[in-house]
Amino acid sequence: MAKVKKIFACSNCGATSPKWIGKCPHCGEWNTYIEEVISRDTVTESKDKSWRTQEKASKSKPVPLPEIEAGETTRLTTPDAELNRVLGGGIVPGSLVLIGGQPGIGKSTLLLQLAMHVPFTILYISGEESDEQIKMRADRIGGEAKNCYILSETNTSKILKHAQNLRPSLVIIDSIQTLSSPHIDSMPGSVSQVRECAGELQRFAKEEHIPVFIIGHITKEGSIAGPKLLEHIVDAVLQFEGDRNYTYRILRTIKNRFGSTDELGIYEMQASGLREVSNPSELLLSQKDEDLSGSAVAATIEGLRPMLIETQALVSTSVYSAPQRSATGFDLRRLGMLLAVLEKRAGLFFAQNDVFLNIAGGIRVDDPAIDLSIVAALISSLEDVAIPTDVCFAGEVGLSGEIRTVNRVEQRIQEANRLGFKEIYISKYNTKGLDTGRYDIEVKAVSKVQELYYALFK
Ligand code: TYD
Ligand code: MG
Repeated sequence: MAKVKKIFACSNCGATSPKWIGKCPHCGEWNTYIEEVISRDTVTESKDKSWRTQEKASKSKPVPLPEIEAGETTRLTTPDAELNRVLGGGIVPGSLVLIGGQPGIGKSTLLLQLAMHVPFTILYISGEESDEQIKMRADRIGGEAKNCYILSETNTSKILKHAQNLRPSLVIIDSIQTLSSPHIDSMPGSVSQVRECAGELQRFAKEEHIPVFIIGHITKEGSIAGPKLLEHIVDAVLQFEGDRNYTYRILRTIKNRFGSTDELGIYEMQASGLREVSNPSELLLSQKDEDLSGSAVAATIEGLRPMLIETQALVSTSVYSAPQRSATGFDLRRLGMLLAVLEKRAGLFFAQNDVFLNIAGGIRVDDPAIDLSIVAALISSLEDVAIPTDVCFAGEVGLSGEIRTVNRVEQRIQEANRLGFKEIYISKYNTKGLDTGRYDIEVKAVSKVQELYYALFK
């Protein structure tokens, strides 16, 4: 007889409790506990002669650290330069990588495209689409795809058996929420099922030295369903994001045991799949001939890559007593702070105005150096005076209106120079040791927002 066990599990972080709780003590979310029935079939477990059993464990023995060979040289490099960059230089054998993103953003397209274009064998397992549907998608992407094997299956035991027989260089699972393990009775996509399946995949990856990519859907709240528990099981978490109204997609590293988390991959969704964008600046600057007020260009750095991005502000007279504040691609609270700084330190009043802010391409920028460009765009729109299109900005704005230093300022200047900008505004404190004579671009140093105001508009 199977032992039946019931628990309550948090659908956000995976914490469990023997009884229902309103607020999860681990992640602080409300109403996330759901009842799950777990029954462990002891008979199937003892029959199991696969890699799950104890025998394998007895093979492991302690090894002195200097005797362990580092696997760095054996990374698998893919033809997708953006993906290699985000993973820190290629796929590490035996690693488990989670790729999260909202439905319809392009996760399946990204990985099917990878599977079709790599020179090594890949097993692509889909629990969401049938073979024919995948074939239709593959036809849109195009390519030979000699090494790509497709399997429509959701049972983890069968999947791992096939993977063991085929011995591909990479296994792709689309998606973790559709898998079910025969060792557990709960529904596919439930917390315990997701945890068990991810655990099995992890053991498979580590023992067979075959890397596994897992696709995971993100719920509305922005966390991958059953997610925090996945985040610490896997070696790397990549997030595929973007505004569905735009064609740009960004692959961001959230966690990486084998590389930096600053890196960023940029793609463009086209009719025939995703195209790598190796020179993002040219896409993120809007093409226009005339100078319009409210627009300024920021020299930002994402990861190790400099990008020039247009920021746009619209400041208009408000018809409501409470003026509107809206921001796309930028933190609304930070916009509020910048407005407060302009009011207090530069005497520019926005209290009677609606303020709208937009970052080109629907891209979310984390780099604080974008502040100076946003401030310039806000002032430009308020005063209705245009900033010339060949001027750009890189600086963080502090609470007392000071322009603070940013990292890698030379790289930003170089990129702006390369793209033909004539002037770049940076913090005065960033100019120390800077050889401005090397560039054609004129470097202008400012120390306070008031100074920027006078430099630009007076
Ligand atoms: P998909 O990879 O199915 O998203 P996910 O797996 O993250 O749910 O991508 C879905 C979107 O991508 C869909 O709206 C159509 C679009 N798309 C293209 O624009 N071009 C293409 O070549 C393909 C395959 C999809
Ligand atoms: Mg999909």
